[in-house]
Amino acid sequence: MTDTTTGAAAAPNPHLPPYAARGLKGRILSGVQPTGNLHLGNYLGAIRNFARLQNDYECLYCVVDQHAITVPQDPRMLAAQTREIASAFLAAGVDGTKQIVFNQSMVPEHAQLAWIFNCVARMGWMSRMTQFKDKAGKNSENVSLGLYAYPALMAADILAYKATHVPVGEDQKQHIELTRDIALKFNNDYKVNFFPITEPVIEGAATRVMSLRDGTKKMSKSDPSDQSRINLTDDADTIAKKFRKAKTDAEPLPSDLEGLSGRPDARNLINVYAALADMTPEAVITEYAGAQFGTFKPALADLAVAKLSPITIKMSQLMQDPAEIDRILGEGAARADAIARPIVDQVYDIIGMIRSRPF
Ligand code: AMP
Ligand code: TRP
Repeated sequence: MTDTTTGAAAAPNPHLPPYAARGLKGRILSGVQPTGNLHLGNYLGAIRNFARLQNDYECLYCVVDQHAITVPQDPRMLAAQTREIASAFLAAGVDGTKQIVFNQSMVPEHAQLAWIFNCVARMGWMSRMTQFKDKAGKNSENVSLGLYAYPALMAADILAYKATHVPVGEDQKQHIELTRDIALKFNNDYKVNFFPITEPVIEGAATRVMSLRDGTKKMSKSDPSDQSRINLTDDADTIAKKFRKAKTDAEPLPSDLEGLSGRPDARNLINVYAALADMTPEAVITEYAGAQFGTFKPALADLAVAKLSPITIKMSQLMQDPAEIDRILGEGAARADAIARPIVDQVYDIIGMIRSRPF
């Protein structure tokens, strides 16, 4: 770039975000809770996309241990599961040397900004969150205050980096909308144009993978039936068995997607096949039109084993060296902190909080 009046090289534009200067489309942040049983839904809805997006975006991938303790956690399990999620990111293809992989509690700006957002977000907004309503159930007076404030911490995870894009499964859409509302309200209240309005990235044929036991319920880490989900730690035999036993109806597969309406279990298996094979659900139904589940399920099981077992194997190799995972997390946290610190410092300035640290 040259200055047209003097012909001298122009100084880099200080307002251009660093990712734009590197020719990237934006900055991504996403998080996964270290609460055990990472499953096919987590993989197809989120983690697989983490690796796919990394050539076009600057990426921060976070194990959200502070979100995990909104419900009780065994301390030793929390540490082990934090390492397990970090290894899943890496095993799924995230490049830990180029991208930033870290755990939330190691970067204090998340909690600092979350407090500020607790004071920006309104009680009514939080009360409308379906994830809170599902998790609290009839017990809402007895759940932790943290569970209620959970979405404000999630907004802080994203906005501490001014992230522009967030890859997630469909169930997180409402939380991203709340993040946008918090950013807008902060900008309006303080008459600044500070936080970006973040876009969700909900991509693929299986953005909401359903339970293998009940096609109307989301596949979930907390489902008491292990048969309801494919865990990323399941071996090939277990994966095959679970797909063979997956609930379906007695009809053969139809020749088009309309024929699947009212058949949620069948629709779910078609979506999962499509996502694993990188096909559209239309193409899968065309290929298997008229087939019985006795034919389709083994094909799906083979496909799932072929796609998942390299990841499972890599994950267990990585987990044999916990010190190395901790090193990656620590290094990631230092790089994350270098981005978040100046942003949160600017937030303090905007709010009028004095920060003349003598240390
Ligand atoms: P969580 O396990 O709740 O921390 O979720 C981690 C990521 O996986 C989030 O982006 C979720 O949206 C995504 N996810 C969780 N369950 C599913 C599912 N059944 N189908 C698709 N994505 C999911
Ligand atoms: N709430 C998300 C879930 O349950 C996890 C999460 C926490 C997250 N912070 C985030 C996801 C920031 C994306 C961005 O799945």
